[in-house]
Amino acid sequence: MQKGFTGRGTMIKHIRKSFAQSKECHHGGRFREAEASLGCEPLDFSANINPLGWPPIQEVLLSEMQKLGHYPDNKYLELRKAAASFVGVEPDNIVPGNGSSEVIRLFVETTLVKEDTAIIPFPTFGEYENQSRLFGAATRKTMLGPFGQVNLDDSVLEDAKALFLCNPNNPTGCLLPKNQIEELARRCERHETFLLVDEAFIELSDPDQSVARQAPEMQFLVVMRSLTKSFGVPGLRLGFGVTNGALADVMNRARIPWSISSIASAAGVELLKHHEHLEKARSLIRTELAWLTDQLERLGLKPAKSSVNFILMDIEPAGLSSGELARRMMDKGILIRDCRSFGLGEHYIRVAVRNRDENEQLVAALQSILCIE
Ligand SMILES: Cc1ncc(COP(=O)(O)O)c(C=O)c1O
Repeated sequence: MQKGFTGRGTMIKHIRKSFAQSKECHHGGRFREAEASLGCEPLDFSANINPLGWPPIQEVLLSEMQKLGHYPDNKYLELRKAAASFVGVEPDNIVPGNGSSEVIRLFVETTLVKEDTAIIPFPTFGEYENQSRLFGAATRKTMLGPFGQVNLDDSVLEDAKALFLCNPNNPTGCLLPKNQIEELARRCERHETFLLVDEAFIELSDPDQSVARQAPEMQFLVVMRSLTKSFGVPGLRLGFGVTNGALADVMNRARIPWSISSIASAAGVELLKHHEHLEKARSLIRTELAWLTDQLERLGLKPAKSSVNFILMDIEPAGLSSGELARRMMDKGILIRDCRSFGLGEHYIRVAVRNRDENEQLVAALQSILCIE
């Protein structure tokens, strides 16, 4: 059988080197793949989204479907207004994105060129490193402190072009208080180092710790939010960045035209009205986080203290590797996140916090694999 082109010719030499050398970035939430192999829907603890799912937005979706014959408004005025009032800034400070992933990409494309250095905490979400490397930047890792603190010397900040910070952090679940981030942001201003604060999960934790409102007043700060996580709609693809007007203007011009569908944009305007949905979710998460953490400890595992809707845990006491445990859980129809791709070695997994019934199923499956009565 004739094979397609495999990439061994000369073409590869002619494309952007950093792209040719890129590696796949691993993520959780491979629901469809698992569904195809299991022949039924898995219970997904590998992606961390609002355990209540999404608020009622069907009417908006259906009405917007009648308008598919038109392009979306490429300025996304309604969406930017809704996002601005949600976080308490002006629409000119908002950069909408096709998922907050697009905001990471735009931030990197806007700020980093070949041989710049980006500082990336360890461990954290893989896309900061992935995207920085795609654009040729060197990445420098910095170990997070035991409470998630970022300890950086002035000389390191001075040499870097950008610093990424995930608050609360994925996968550790640590939430840094607002005053620590503000202090870091002020240091970044002094050193003219761009700071991206990824607040994808903050609505499911403690939104009072957000620094989004400070971003318009600073030159080098970009804060981002993900509607995916907050409103339980990963399939919709919607997020936004918050920054000063000048930088927002540049990022909005650099964005691929119409990158957000009209359906996602209209749904976003509606979703952002549902504050009560977020309050309910936070209350559920608080209760379930405490319950699940306790249950995991009773199984002899070592869950890290988390402030959000997921738990990182050390499973070494179970005597199984993370890959093996993930495989066995998958056989039971449950997806968990094997954390090897975070660089954490063989003994860490991360699980989402879901509702009580689902959390009980998780605990029961773990119990039967670990043979605990
Ligand atoms: C910390 C963090 N930031 C951003 C994202 C991107 O999410 P989305 O593009 O769906 O908004 C994710 C997805 O897993 C994440 O974990």
